[in-house]
Amino acid sequence: MEHILDFVRGSDSLKIVALTGAGISAESGVPTFRGEDGLWETHRAEELATPEAFEVNPTLVWRWYDWRRNLIATVEPNPGHRSLVDLARHPRISLNVVTQNVDSLHQLAGSDDVIELHGNIFELRCTRDGTSRLQRESVKKVPPTCEDCGALLRPGVVWFGEALDNSRLSRAAELVSEADLLLVIGTSAVVYPAAGLATLCPGLSIEVNNAATPFSNAADLVIRSKASEALPAIAAGIITALGGSDADR
Ligand code: OAD
Repeated sequence: MEHILDFVRGSDSLKIVALTGAGISAESGVPTFRGEDGLWETHRAEELATPEAFEVNPTLVWRWYDWRRNLIATVEPNPGHRSLVDLARHPRISLNVVTQNVDSLHQLAGSDDVIELHGNIFELRCTRDGTSRLQRESVKKVPPTCEDCGALLRPGVVWFGEALDNSRLSRAAELVSEADLLLVIGTSAVVYPAAGLATLCPGLSIEVNNAATPFSNAADLVIRSKASEALPAIAAGIITALGGSDADR
């Protein structure tokens, strides 16, 4: 960490990108996908999170999404999410959050302009014309249908086999390519193209994850602990090294 803080001390300003995955929300009570207690340990992704699965059995897919939506609607951001907001408030830091999460917890914590690579679980999208709206409440019937045209609604998330929104992906790639510091937080770094973004950073990188990932060897620093414990310390260290906020100086 000293090496990173030396770099920060020598900087006038800092461009940071936080690339986050399910691990940052784990301590809020949102299950991760892989690893112990991961959703994909007990559920088959191909039966629940693919366009084919939705075509064959929209009711099954929606039951699962409704369960997750209801669970996520009750949880709160944790100190990991909030530390990213603290960093972004520093006048000489520009911080962008690029997330694979669909839970809105970064936005609830106060992060602006979050790039949601895999969409948002509270978005309901008409399968006929693609129009969408956000609804945090449970759907009234499963599977839900469009009030305007009666077609099936689908969750506004990216399923396996589907392309990511191109403008979001290219904006994320551009931000990472210009970052002085990349924080890769709570992602198994195995799902592409999101995982590939981590390799684009020309600056320093820190991985925060309680387990090893394919990105670990490429990171300048690996912090093997929970995001909610590591991130407040990282944020405080960076803010102190950069000289507190302008108001403190
Ligand atoms: P994963 O579930 O694949 O990985 C979660 C990562 O977080 C693992 O590497 C854990 O070691 C780590 N982790 C768990 N608890 C943590 C904690 N408290 N603090 C820090 N790290 C912790 O989640 P993602 O990498 O986000 O996609 O998964 C990527 C994509 O695969 C998801 O967006 C989803 C999934 O299938 C789609 O549904 C398209």
